[in-house]
Amino acid sequence: MASPAKIGIVTISDRASAGIYADEGGPAILDYFSQALTSPWQAITRIIPDERAGIAQTLVELADKEGCCLIVTTGGTGPAPRDVTPEATEDVIDKLMPGFGELMRQVSLAKVPTAILSRQLAGIRGKSLIVNLPGRPRAIAECLDAVMPAIPYCIDLIEGPSLETDPAVIVAFRPGQKPKG
Ligand code: MTE
Repeated sequence: MASPAKIGIVTISDRASAGIYADEGGPAILDYFSQALTSPWQAITRIIPDERAGIAQTLVELADKEGCCLIVTTGGTGPAPRDVTPEATEDVIDKLMPGFGELMRQVSLAKVPTAILSRQLAGIRGKSLIVNLPGRPRAIAECLDAVMPAIPYCIDLIEGPSLETDPAVIVAFRPGQKPKG
């Protein structure tokens, strides 16, 4: 049997990493994938402060050492001085995937006008897809609902494991294949 697909879940928050408040973003992402994915997978979670070098180092470790096919971050995408998640992501990716940020901001704008404040982006490092999500737990499902249909095929294209979804939760779109369900 194939080993489970590894998914990195990185909460980027000075306060959550210092224990000042509980991390809600990481568990929200874990919960989302638990409901959406039917193929075997394993989460590798991290809670780290808003430090550019530390974020970049964590992303590299999850991609190169742990071999995560997908790494999702939450937090640090806004305009505040300590918000550096997109910069750290850009530091480590080989290819920018602009469609992810464009779509997530578009669907988020239908919910909150402040969605334009998120500078979230996505990109490829080797065989890993890295996606930034905003910090608000509510934003997590809103953004993942928008981009998740394209994520399994993106991971196919970078030669990662085949992620299968529960079509009752989210339909993964693979061109040339009839959607299951
Ligand atoms: N996107 C969605 N879908 N829902 C939200 O509530 N909040 C916005 C934005 N994107 C929000 C959203 C706000 S208020 C900010 S400041 C930015 O995300 C950046 O958040 P972050 O710095 O926690 O990443």
